[in-house]
Amino acid sequence: MSSKLFSPYSCRGIVLKNRVGVSPMCQYSADDGLPNTWHVVHLGSRAVGGAGLVMVEAASVAPDARISDKDIGIWNSAQLDQFRQITEFVKSQGAVPAIQLAHAGRKGSTQVPWQGRKAVTVSEGGWSTMGPSNTPFNDEYTVPREMSMQDIQRVINEFTDAAQRSLAAGFEVLELHMGHGYLLHQFLSPLSNTRSDEYGGGFEQRIAFPLQLAKAVRKVWPDHLPLFVRISATDWLDGGWSVEESVTFARQLASAGVDLVDCSSGSVVPDSRGPVAPGFQVPLSAAVRQGANIATGAVGLITEPQQAEDILAAGQADLIFLARALLRDPYWPLRAQQQLDGVSSWPIQYDRAVNPNALT
Ligand SMILES: Cc1cc2nc3c(=O)[nH]c(=O)nc-3n(C[C@H](O)[C@H](O)[C@H](O)COP(=O)(O)O)c2cc1C
Repeated sequence: MSSKLFSPYSCRGIVLKNRVGVSPMCQYSADDGLPNTWHVVHLGSRAVGGAGLVMVEAASVAPDARISDKDIGIWNSAQLDQFRQITEFVKSQGAVPAIQLAHAGRKGSTQVPWQGRKAVTVSEGGWSTMGPSNTPFNDEYTVPREMSMQDIQRVINEFTDAAQRSLAAGFEVLELHMGHGYLLHQFLSPLSNTRSDEYGGGFEQRIAFPLQLAKAVRKVWPDHLPLFVRISATDWLDGGWSVEESVTFARQLASAGVDLVDCSSGSVVPDSRGPVAPGFQVPLSAAVRQGANIATGAVGLITEPQQAEDILAAGQADLIFLARALLRDPYWPLRAQQQLDGVSSWPIQYDRAVNPNALT
């Protein structure tokens, strides 16, 4: 009998062959936001490895939406053309191509992680950043400008334009990045949003911009294709964004046509990380799934096939997103299927590696 992990997952008009998703992972390897052969091989390998959903890293919706100048982007047609190679190859392997759309807000204009993630000022070749308020992430980051109404409308337009480019590039699932302390999370959390206008203050005001943006994207993203949202389901701090708020927000996202909430956590302020341990974010996914009656994805220190299976069997999530486990081993899904179901479908080109009866 097939495990739950390797049973298909249907959402709108799309069927994933299994419940394993490649969690979005910035590669910091693009110039001018352009995907290149690194991205084709990186994402292509995970498709060959058997994941049902292969999601492109946080793709910036504008040059000033980037974390670093090495981020991938989807703000122009040259990028769109390059993405086609990825979506076509991913589909050829029976996987569904997805892309995460993102804006870094006050966490933008930094060096790449392996250079130290320090702020890059405008005079050093960076760009000016913006956020809900004019407080920086910490003393080492540049001070953002408080976003005006025009800025908010511009960002909504950048996301809807990026969604249309994603469609033209062949993506079949879109995820909006509303977690990890990036722009949309900065609006959600009272730790970073200290505005006193219609976009700050109470819960309804803090969710207003992210919700408007989700609704605007849903309008341009076809009805037959799924829309996911990644949130940080808690800031792990008193006075921060809470699981209860995530549940209420998820209900509103569901009404706005969002199909799945991908439940991560933390990172809106420097000391917001939570009790990192195996499966530590799974209870967040379970709470949102149960409380908001919406499909969820679980992510974070899920490394073992049986662990992933148990999460699904217990009704704590609908999809399992893996990040570092898939960096270590792109073939994790094929091995997991062998372990759980006693079968796996390696690409025919690799038959001699796994079939003892294959001609040598
Ligand atoms: C190299 C790397 C890059 C990441 N980039 C992103 C990203 O672009 N968007 C995002 O939402 N999360 C990003 N994350 C977080 C992962 O998607 C995932 O949520 C996190 O690593 C926890 O899952 P894991 O324990 O399976 O690695 C990144 C993680 C890693 C290791």
